[in-house]
Amino acid sequence: MSEKDYSKIIELEKIHHTKLFPKRDYVIVKGKGALLYDEKGNEYIDCVAGHGVMNIGHSHPKYIEAMKKQIQKLVMVPPGYPVEERARLLEKLAQITPKSLTQTFLSNSGTEAVEAAIKLVLAANRDKKNPEIIAFKRDFHGRTLGSLATTFNMKYRKPFMSWLSSNVKYASFGNIDSVKELVNENTAAIITELVQGEGGVHPSPEDFPKALRELCDEKDLILIDDEVQTGFGRTGKMFAYEHYNVTPDVLCVAKAIAGGLPMGATIAPEELYNKFNVGEHNTTFGGNPLVCAAANATINILMKEKLAENAASQGEKMITDFKRLAEENENIRGVRGKGLMIGVDFKKPVKERIINAASKGVFFLNAGLTVIRLLPPLVISNDQTEKVIKVMREISQ
Ligand SMILES: Cc1ncc(COP(=O)(O)O)c(C=O)c1O
Repeated sequence: MSEKDYSKIIELEKIHHTKLFPKRDYVIVKGKGALLYDEKGNEYIDCVAGHGVMNIGHSHPKYIEAMKKQIQKLVMVPPGYPVEERARLLEKLAQITPKSLTQTFLSNSGTEAVEAAIKLVLAANRDKKNPEIIAFKRDFHGRTLGSLATTFNMKYRKPFMSWLSSNVKYASFGNIDSVKELVNENTAAIITELVQGEGGVHPSPEDFPKALRELCDEKDLILIDDEVQTGFGRTGKMFAYEHYNVTPDVLCVAKAIAGGLPMGATIAPEELYNKFNVGEHNTTFGGNPLVCAAANATINILMKEKLAENAASQGEKMITDFKRLAEENENIRGVRGKGLMIGVDFKKPVKERIINAASKGVFFLNAGLTVIRLLPPLVISNDQTEKVIKVMREISQ
């Protein structure tokens, strides 16, 4: 394609995609591992990874092979028709999550995974007139109207308040007393991210998840663990709850699960799913054979290549260096993270620094106005980690 053709692509995106997505002025043409390439052949280390989706990296040969095979065999049959790829995935999810979580509803995104969890809470609390859910300040759980009601930031919620449930209360993340104060006879569930992502990359304090678990047991509440962003190796373990030794009642996952294809999953005990009557929840695309084959290949790659371990070690290198940098550099307020989910919190907005990093060959993401967030593919190499550290040092001056 000529330079003119690429300019046309950028122009068409600007004209016909909504202004919800401010556009870059280059075209991404391919990806390999932790790298992306633009139309001029420029190479970028992709610390955005499709907003924390591409944990196995771009164009993994095993993933490509599995996709080619599956697309020739079978793409779509609805959830009521048993197929090998779905059966294998459901079994695998039951095997890699806590023993009590035996059943899964497969959907197409993180927000749908959370919607299913909310509906599950309501189905299990038919006796309560006004079931309430406790979420946390800084939480992000999605943008459809149910999950949006549990998302804290007013920027996302305000225009839509008239349609959002008022049965969500927000406690302070990490403060169990603030949760206890909100519990009343209508409280049905608590939803939490164990490392808050969108809200600025805040890992939970060490003992907090256990305190939440105890409170849920004592008050008979459902504990929903939203691992849409933290799941599948991102934090250095397959799931973030493993860092805290807690078992949630409902686990919501999405993003990295299917290596880049859309999938969400809501995993819970059979007794809980039995609270739904047939037809009370459903999906057209969720759990189709193509995306299930993608998820099977992705989970196999994650496990075989020990990518959670690589996330732990590369993440530690980055976090250690960024903390050193923060001591020397007064522009930085703090560094937080777990594994390869890292936030560098600056005192001022980071937009220009992120643009500058791209010009030096590294894509960074933001979390709010002042945090540079890193969610690189978990296949990132030592050399690539070194380059990310170098560029972070340069752009933080
Ligand atoms: C913790 C968490 N939950 C839910 C969502 C919503 O996921 P999706 O954008 O796939 O709907 C996100 C997205 O960033 C997330 O980080």
